[in-house]
Order: sequence, then C-alpha cells, then structure tokens
Amino acid sequence: MPKHLSIQTLFADQPVGTRQIVKGWVRTLRNDQFLSISDGSTIKTLQVVISKEQVGEEICKKLQTGACVETEGVLQKSLGKGQEIELICDRIEILGESDPNEFPIQMKRHSLEFLREKAHLRFRTNTFGAVFRIRHHLSFAIHKYFNDRQFFNLHSPIITGSDAEGAGEMFRVTTLDIENPPRLENGSIDNTADFFGKPANLTVSGQLEAELAALALGKVYTFGPTFRAENSNTSRHLAEFWMIEPEVAFNDIQDNMDLAEDFLRYCIRYALDHCKDDLEFLQDREANEDKLKPVDERQALPLIQRLEFVANNTFERITYTEAIDILLQSNHYKKKKFKYDVKWGIDLQSEHERYLVEKHFQKPVIITGYPAAIKAFYMRLNEDGKTVAAMDILVPGIGEIIGGSQREERYDVLLEKCKQFNIPADHIWWYLETRKFGTCVHAGFGLGFERMVMYVTGMQNIRDVIPFPRTPQNAEF
Ligand code: 4AD
Ligand code: MG
Repeated sequence: MPKHLSIQTLFADQPVGTRQIVKGWVRTLRNDQFLSISDGSTIKTLQVVISKEQVGEEICKKLQTGACVETEGVLQKSLGKGQEIELICDRIEILGESDPNEFPIQMKRHSLEFLREKAHLRFRTNTFGAVFRIRHHLSFAIHKYFNDRQFFNLHSPIITGSDAEGAGEMFRVTTLDIENPPRLENGSIDNTADFFGKPANLTVSGQLEAELAALALGKVYTFGPTFRAENSNTSRHLAEFWMIEPEVAFNDIQDNMDLAEDFLRYCIRYALDHCKDDLEFLQDREANEDKLKPVDERQALPLIQRLEFVANNTFERITYTEAIDILLQSNHYKKKKFKYDVKWGIDLQSEHERYLVEKHFQKPVIITGYPAAIKAFYMRLNEDGKTVAAMDILVPGIGEIIGGSQREERYDVLLEKCKQFNIPADHIWWYLETRKFGTCVHAGFGLGFERMVMYVTGMQNIRDVIPFPRTPQNAEF
C-alpha cells in the first residue's frame, strides 16, 4: 500500500510515475471524467482522472461537491492546462456522501455574511481555507520570532480577579445560582459564597501577570484568548479574541517601539515567504470584490504589494500632540468632515486614526505621548506630568493594531495613579509589590491577533478571520 501523502506534498515533490492514495473532498466533477479534490493542505486542488465505465454509474452519481473520497492511481504530469500533475485513478471509494440538494456550499460565489451562518462548513471554501492556513502560519511565526530572541512564553490566567485595563467591560465567571444568589443582610450578593470567594472574570489582558514574570525572567510573551464585553458591534471588535503581549525588563518606550515595529514587519515578511499561494488567491479575490465597489472604496495597491511595502519600509513615528496638530490643520477638519471634534485631550476616534494613516501618511504610524487621563493607570507618567509613555500602532484599513507602553515602575507615582483611577490598592497589592522589590524600567505591548490576520489577508471583517466569532448576540457553533 503506498503511503497517503497530502496534496501539498504531491505538488511540492511531484513523484510522477508512482502509485498514490489521495483522500479529500470533492470540489467538482467535469464531464464525468475530471474530478477536482481538495484536502485542505493547500489552496491547490488535485485533478483525479476517472473513467465512468470503470468507476460505474452508481459511484459517479455520488461524486458530488462536498463528498469525501479516497482515490488511488498513478501520478502523472498533466497534459491539460491549469494543473501540473494529475492522478490517473483506478480505484475510488466514497467515504462520506454529500447530498447536492442539501449541501449549502456550492461552487459559486457565496457572500461572507451567508458563510458566517454556515461557519461549520465555510472551511470548505477557498477563501476560508486560505485565511485559516495563513492564520496558522502567523501564529507559528509569532512563537518563532520570540523563541529565536530568547523570550519565554508565559501562560497567564484566563480567569482573573483583576481588571487590567480598568475598562470594566468584563465577563463575570460564577458558580452562584443566578436565579437565587446568596445575599448578605443588606441585600447585596454574598460574593464570599462564590467559587473563588470573590468576584472573578474572564481576563481582558495578560499584561499584569506578564509584568510580574518579566521582572524575573527578563523577556516574556503571552499568546492567549482575551475577553471583552464591550457592546461594540463593529467589523474590528470581538468579544473573544487572541492577544500577543510581550513584556521586557529594561526596555523603555523607544525600545518598545523598535520591538513592535520589527515584530510586525517580521510577521508580514514571514507570511509573504510562506503563504504565497494563499495570498495570491486572496489578492485576486479582493480585486474581484473591488470591481463591485465604488472607485474611491477600492484598494490603491494589490494585497501583496501592500504587504511588501510594510515589510520593507519604516513606520512613521509621531507624538499625540503632533497628531492633533496634523488633524487641526487638515482640510478635512476645516471642511468640518470629522464627525467628532478635534482638540488636545480627546481620545482619537477611528475616523481620526484612519485619516492619519490612510490619507496623511499612507503607511503605518506609531503615536506616542498620549494624555494620561485617556490611558490606563499603569502607563509611565512623562516629565511634563500630563502625558504618558504610551504607544499605539495604527495601520491603513484597520486602525489600531497594537497598544502598549512603558510601565510606571515608581512605587509612589503608581500608588497615586491607582488613587486617581479609583483602583483599590488592596486589589492589586501583588502588582504594587513588584515596584517595592527590585523594580526596574520595563515596557510591553499587545497585538490583537485577529487584527493582524485581517491586515495580512485583506479580509475586511474580523468575524471572517477567527474560526467561530463571538460577538454580541452571537455564540453559535
Ligand atoms: O489596546 P489594548 O486594550 O491594550 C491592552 O490590552 C494592553 N494590556 C496591552 C499591553 O500593553 N500588554 O489592546 C491591545 C490590542 C489592540 O491594539 C487591538 O489590536 C486588540 O488588542 N483588541 C481587540 N481586538 C479584537 N477585538 C477587540 N474587542 C479588541 N480590543 C483590543
Ligand atoms: Mg488600545
């Protein structure tokens, strides 16, 4: 029995003249003779040449889109156009039938919205096959990047008692009977009766724990699921997403920016080098979709050129104050085209961010020195006493992809910040203690993994780059 190889391997090695077994799912059957099979290992399908006489009428009828088959035959160079190799089949077996009247994924264009409702089957399409293969390669690239640079992967907890971002948008984790929770005499819920003896939530970030580890292991990173109960039903927000959070002892905000830029460009280069076929497919797909759009909504550059540009060019670096000045001096502002007002102190809205990266700079931009009041309590206060050593990285088409900062390492200043932000010191006593025992300058950032996958694949909706999106009113599958 010949070994069962993947279609990816058959195309790479082209062992012409050998017997092979191929297992996969039927895409199409043309003229009762040319069967196209996908096994998911590559965007390429294998042409399996059958003869109706040999296979028989019964089996031929069952070779429907979506059916699972095992085929065997001799691999040969293809004489036809469109494929390099093909399998001349002398044995075929239907492993799993697929009723063509019920299988919803047909060989025609389906809208992404339709496919979201069929998330259990959308992996079978070229688009989602490409997206999820690229997602895998990016995940691998991230671990490789850090491992090659002596970072340690830290598994931060998923259930936590703290609210790292202070945003208060958390999912509660409880074993209390929500119909009838135990109550104190004053009527409020008795949290001491809960599983952990106090309120607990799904984590919004592994950063605080990563900091504790960085102050001993030096360089660490987390890569895990993150949960936010913000009710923002946008194309860039998920209730459950994956975040990568490196944290480095002795790095200041400059080092932090250098690391983040190098890291992002590395990942994009990695995708360009390892996902060529899938990127070419997605690039063609995007070009076809663009034809249906008004001219000003189309991409200026094809996908691969956009990625090459980012991999090969340095990012723009500006301060928050400079960003505000650019916005104030823009014609866009003068013509009152922004919905939200612009003045020093505002939290930049996505329309402002997009103007800066898409219209003004037309490349990724790192913004630093945000007003302390609009950023998290742990960010290091600058000498001016009103801005913090924060950094956001914005990219065209997405907006914010990375958020990070140098951390406040001075005990007194941090304690004061906790007071200002109404964070009870006894809730994060362990975090504060690291500032008492061998504190040091350190910095880190968080990359939203799905936003990076969107950027690399060109997909426009974050729901289409995670296998099973969790969004408000939606936790199907
Ligand atoms: O800017 P954020 O909130 O920063 C933090 O959580 C810090 N603790 C990171 C750190 O310094 N270690 O989130 C970081 C990134 C954002 O830039 C964005 O890419 C992504 O996480 N993100 C989301 N992605 C999808 N859906 C959401 N609801 C997201 N919220 C943030
Ligand atoms: Mg942020």
